[in-house]
Amino acid sequence: MQLIATCAFGLEKLVYDEIKALGLWVIKNEDGRVTFEGDEEALIKANLWLRCADRVLIKIDEFEAKTFDELFDQTNQLEWEKYIEANDAFPIKATSVKSALHSEPAIQSIIKKAVVKRLQKQYKLETLAENSGASYQIIIKANKDHFLVAIDSSGESLHKRGYRTRANLAPIKETLAAAMVKLSDWTLEKTLIDPFCGSGTIGIEAALMACNIAPGLNRTFAFQRWPWLIKENFIKIHNETKAGIKTIAKLPIYCFDIDAEVLKIAAVNAKNAGFNNLHFKRADFRQLNFSQFLNCTFITNPPYGERMGEKAEIENMYRELGTQFAKTKNSSLFLITSHENFPTLFGYKANKNRKLFNGHIRCYLYSYF
Ligand SMILES: C[S@@+](CC[C@H](N)C(=O)[O-])C[C@H]1O[C@@H](n2cnc3c(N)ncnc32)[C@H](O)[C@@H]1O
Repeated sequence: MQLIATCAFGLEKLVYDEIKALGLWVIKNEDGRVTFEGDEEALIKANLWLRCADRVLIKIDEFEAKTFDELFDQTNQLEWEKYIEANDAFPIKATSVKSALHSEPAIQSIIKKAVVKRLQKQYKLETLAENSGASYQIIIKANKDHFLVAIDSSGESLHKRGYRTRANLAPIKETLAAAMVKLSDWTLEKTLIDPFCGSGTIGIEAALMACNIAPGLNRTFAFQRWPWLIKENFIKIHNETKAGIKTIAKLPIYCFDIDAEVLKIAAVNAKNAGFNNLHFKRADFRQLNFSQFLNCTFITNPPYGERMGEKAEIENMYRELGTQFAKTKNSSLFLITSHENFPTLFGYKANKNRKLFNGHIRCYLYSYF
């Protein structure tokens, strides 16, 4: 079957590399999604291991449709009975961009009718109960009249690893935090420092990677309730994944924040993720002695100053950060912000900047190495 890993814009290459690292064959890489070939085992592994993807979908088909009749007929021809049994639920979620059929509720209702008619005919039933407990979330993505039809195997988005039970006001998504660590030069030989750690996501994602802990190990997935998927396969892969965990007594990961309350949340999150050896300390970055930081990788998500009245304060903060960072030795910095003037304020031109999205906010990851 063909599987699709969806992701935020800008993370496709990282997801592509993660899929290749699982030994899977990539078919195509497009904006926001990577299509790959895979069997049941690949579906399980991709859900467990992809750190930067949002969901893993099973591709059912792709086609062009400009009218509701075309949409109905093409959907009705698909072999839905291969996946969905007579009493299974199948909610529909459609998005439509630049397409003749632009009403998402109308698309959803046509798709629903087409699938219902198909299954009623196949199972020779007049009504479908949708009460078996198994649920197949059908995903429809229309773009310029081109429809992708798929089933979501993940359930909750893959950024929900299960360790973040509480968050501060502006937490970074786990998938983006993992991407920042991957795009940095951090290895266990260097000390990782997050001076604006908030709920600790960047440090925790780095620790998961260092210990070879699959991001999905402590959560469940929609596919676990599908009867055709062999339970033993999941248990076997899950056990192998657990067996591959490396224990590292001293993780060189230091997280600071000015807010004592947020640090309590960070420590709970780290503990939920299985770490009591990350260092969380209350500090205003201005008070930290940056000249003691030697051979460090700073990976951080400082405040952006998006709210009214905050901009001048944030701009000063970025200037002061530049002064502080200049005192470090042999260190690198990977910082995400939506502020387009960051390098000017910070005082140094970045070696690289990369456009990324933090939710809907367009940001840049500025890299200094
Ligand atoms: C965008 S949030 C970081 C979110 C974090 N990445 C997470 O996943 O939760 C920015 C953080 O910077 C902290 N902060 C603001 N001013 C600071 C300062 N002067 N020194 C250190 N931390 C500061 C805030 O308390 C806040 O937690």
